[in-house]
Amino acid sequence: MVLFDTHAHYDSRQFDPDREEVLSSLADQEVALVVNPGCDPASSQKAVELARAWPFLYAAVGWHPEDCAPYAPESLDELRALAREPKVVAIGEIGLDYYWKENPPRELQQRVFRDQLALAEELNLPVIVHDRDAHGDCLSIVKEFPRVRGVFHCYSGSVEMARELVELGWMISFTGVLTYPNARKAVEAVQAIPPDRLMVETDSPYMSPVPFRGKRCHSGLVRYTCERMAELKGLSPEEMARITYENGRRFFRI
Ligand code: NI
Repeated sequence: MVLFDTHAHYDSRQFDPDREEVLSSLADQEVALVVNPGCDPASSQKAVELARAWPFLYAAVGWHPEDCAPYAPESLDELRALAREPKVVAIGEIGLDYYWKENPPRELQQRVFRDQLALAEELNLPVIVHDRDAHGDCLSIVKEFPRVRGVFHCYSGSVEMARELVELGWMISFTGVLTYPNARKAVEAVQAIPPDRLMVETDSPYMSPVPFRGKRCHSGLVRYTCERMAELKGLSPEEMARITYENGRRFFRI
């Protein structure tokens, strides 16, 4: 089996005690590629440094909607400079998060999202979209940028929205949430999405799949999401792993 974890945050403080150990154990768990998105300029910088140090790890750079309060137009220049690094494969993670009341105001989130979609278009890079309780606005804003392609990560939208994204040429990615007993919507979405548009991810250190739910997540656990996806698509786990690995390589141009 060869696995591609398309979304993991190894720059997170939760990996400070044992980052080296975790990252060096991944090859033995058949994880061959990882993309580490940034959440603000500092974490994007860390992602770039990790990508320099670890051959199997690639970086994305961006302002996460939950972390965008300090955003100023000139901060886009920081991202632009970081995005020129050879192992930066996407702008992300970017998007909208209407779940938490204490998040930055929606107008600011939308502005930061649009500015980064424009940057992705300028740099000809794909985007990694975070959409929490903001499906309608996320979809309508990405449609303002028809030349930009991306992935909706940790997908939580409807089947109809998934079909529309596929129609627009987008990818859709699933975390360990797919293994949860109440994952009805995600299950229906996976069943409706063509195999060549699916990717798997962990969103480490969050979102551990069953049977590790509640524990800190790492990329080795992406196999559980891949196995569940295989079951839903009527494929063998090896075949699903190969397809999602190739999808990820094609999408991130690795
Ligand atoms: Ni994430």
